[in-house]
Amino acid sequence: PTTRIFNITVSEIQAAPDGVVRTMLVMNGQFPGPLIRVNEGDRVLVNVTNELKNGTSMHWHGLYQNGTNWMDGTSGITQCPIPPGTSFLYNFTVTNQFGTYWYHSHVSSQYTDGLVGPFVVHSPSEAAVRSNYDYDQVILLQDWYHDLSSDLMPAYLASGNENAEPLPDNGLIQGTNYFNCSSYDPDSGYTCQDNSTRAILPIHPQKRHRLRLINTGAFGEFSVSIDNHTLSVIEADSTLIAPATVHRLPIHIAQRYSIIVNFNQSSSTNYWFRAQMNEHCFSDDNPVLDPDVLALISYSNTTAEPTNSVDWSDVLDVVCKDLNTTLLVPLVPASPPKQGLTYQLDVSFQIGAYALDKAYINSTTWTPSTVPTLNQAITALSSSNTSLSSQFSTSGLDTTLFSPSGSQFVLSVPSISVVDILLNNLDEGAHPFHLHGHQFWELASGPGDFDYGNYGSLNTTNPMRRDTMTVNAYGWSLIRFVADNPGLWALHCHISTRADIMKTWTLPADVAGLCSI
Ligand code: C2O
Repeated sequence: PTTRIFNITVSEIQAAPDGVVRTMLVMNGQFPGPLIRVNEGDRVLVNVTNELKNGTSMHWHGLYQNGTNWMDGTSGITQCPIPPGTSFLYNFTVTNQFGTYWYHSHVSSQYTDGLVGPFVVHSPSEAAVRSNYDYDQVILLQDWYHDLSSDLMPAYLASGNENAEPLPDNGLIQGTNYFNCSSYDPDSGYTCQDNSTRAILPIHPQKRHRLRLINTGAFGEFSVSIDNHTLSVIEADSTLIAPATVHRLPIHIAQRYSIIVNFNQSSSTNYWFRAQMNEHCFSDDNPVLDPDVLALISYSNTTAEPTNSVDWSDVLDVVCKDLNTTLLVPLVPASPPKQGLTYQLDVSFQIGAYALDKAYINSTTWTPSTVPTLNQAITALSSSNTSLSSQFSTSGLDTTLFSPSGSQFVLSVPSISVVDILLNNLDEGAHPFHLHGHQFWELASGPGDFDYGNYGSLNTTNPMRRDTMTVNAYGWSLIRFVADNPGLWALHCHISTRADIMKTWTLPADVAGLCSI
């Protein structure tokens, strides 16, 4: 293991990823942020310097942060935002995991404005898989807006604005895309530079590439395909899976998939990489636009548009849903332990219909408190008569000692318990849920209401495990995980600015003084 040091300076600039000039947030002057690549077991130091006018933070999406909950970067929960003009040193060790991750600001909807980057962990444990490809590349996808998220969100969340999610103005691949400036009136207020281009994805003909796809977007699911080439899916959210061959791959916000593509077609043409932006997943009310966001697979290292590139004729049958779990079979089997504690969370996002200005989980909407919840918990525990270690090692966090200020839904679970959560989606849109600090097993999903009578017949033989899954519109998903990572961890819909829930169980004892408010 090595110590790997990275410096990231966050700043605000005017830039035009697709030709339309806007204010955006960048890391080291670049967008997307720099690739962070480490080996399993490495200690990682990332010094984040904040040159913004507002606070920021960095979250390492999918990393367990085992023993370093306060390095999770969830502002308001595990830390204060990093104040403008200061630096914060993230210091953690990547243990017992490898694969494709990403990092992003975890303050408000900031990541939507550009604070995203890929994070790849290599490991000897992937040696067998590695022999199946010659090259390894990261491809970032995201929906894109020509306005700052802080300008879009207030209108979206205004009362009476039912489900009027801001529709993306474009989609980006590797942080770039073409935009047709003539679609804006000269008096639209936008400055559009007529020089935007699509991403060029250079490949080596007759070689096999592992493409690590990451959806770093705010709202939109993509279906990815490559003309004339099949996709062999080998990884989902850092879980290696038995190779599954598909033509189209749905990838929702914050999810990652690795595909192996054998670029064995004729080199006499280039081919389209398509990321169909499934805008209709936002809401039944929205028109079905589903434009293809295109990038060029360049066999010849030229930018020539394809002359003989053929889209697959099959339509993905599961748009707005995750890839069918029958295709997601973990390569290293791990079956979940027996049912322990079970919680039902009713998730409501119907902003206009119920005159809600936010999303709710069991009638609580998350609002950050001024003192991070982790610090509140530490203070409460350290002023109690019970020693921290006994508090943690036995029954978990005692909630009578701890009622966080602000509006926060806290699930307090004992250490090393088996936890089932039924996510009940009362919304007409699909929601990608992410659990920090853990992977969970996807036990089952379905429409309508879960029938608790079916508990005994769930498939518990090597179900898919991941950290971000789509809970279908008006549907439910039952997840199970082992609460073996003491701390406060967010569980939330990853769609930008949806309300979070925070979950908590035992706490590590040595974090007091992290944050000086
Ligand atoms: Cu990508 Cu709360 O995280």
